[in-house]
Amino acid sequence: MTNTTLNVYTAVAAVWVAFLAILGVNLVVNTVMYGHPIEEAEEAHAIKMGFPIEVIAEAPAEGEAAGGGGLVSSLPLVAAASADEGAAIFKKCGSCHTSEAGGANKTGPNLHNIIGAEIANHNGHKTTDSLNAIGGTWTYEKLDDYIENPKRLAPKGSMSFAGLKKPADRAAVIKFLMSNTENAPPLPAAAEPAAAPAAN
Ligand code: HEC
Repeated sequence: MTNTTLNVYTAVAAVWVAFLAILGVNLVVNTVMYGHPIEEAEEAHAIKMGFPIEVIAEAPAEGEAAGGGGLVSSLPLVAAASADEGAAIFKKCGSCHTSEAGGANKTGPNLHNIIGAEIANHNGHKTTDSLNAIGGTWTYEKLDDYIENPKRLAPKGSMSFAGLKKPADRAAVIKFLMSNTENAPPLPAAAEPAAAPAAN
C-alpha cells in the first residue's frame, strides 16, 4: 500500500468521524434545548417559529360518521334550489366528472343517474374500497354528506375535493344532479317545504 492510498483512507475516515460527531452534537443540543431528540425537537421548533402544525382530520370513529363533523343538512333547501345555479357550481366538479347521459368517465365517474344509484363503481368506473364500503345507494342524505366532505364517508377514498361547505351550494348541485337523473327518487319528506310547489 502506498503512502498516498493510506492518506486517502485517513482522509475518508476523518470525514466520517467528523460527520458522526456533528450528528452526536446535534442530538445532544436538541435534547438539551428542547428536552427531546431530533424529530420532536423539530416540531417544537416549528411551533416556536409560529408555523401552524397542520392537523390532519382523523377518520371519525364508527357510528359517528354522518353529522359527526357538524354537517348542516342542505336538504331542506333543495326543493327551492335552482338547477341552473347548480350547473354553475357543478363546474367545480366538472374537472373530474361529467353529468350528461353517455358522458365520459374522467378522474371520477360520469354522474348521470347518480341519485338513488348503488354507491361505488358508477358507470363502470372502478372506485376505491373505501367508497365501496359505504354500501347501499346514494340517498339524498348520503350525497349531501359526501359532497360536503368526501373523507367523512370514505376516509380513504380518492375524491380529492375539499367539499362544498355552504348548504345552499350543495342544495343547488343536488338539484342539478336530480335534473340529470331519470326518475330521481322523491326528496325525503322532511325536506319538502310546507307548501310544495307544483313539480316543474
Ligand atoms: C379532483 C377530482 C374530483 C372532483 C373535483 C370531484 N370529484 Fe367526485 N369523485 C372523484 C373520484 C376520483 C371519485 C371516486 C372516489 C373513490 O373511488 O373513492 C369520485 C366519486 C364521486 C361520487 C361517487 C361515485 C360512485 O361511483 O358512487 C360522487 C357522487 C361524486 N364524486 C360527486 C362529486 C360532486 C358532486 C363533485 C363536486 C361538488 C365532485 N364529485 C368533485 C373525483 C372528483
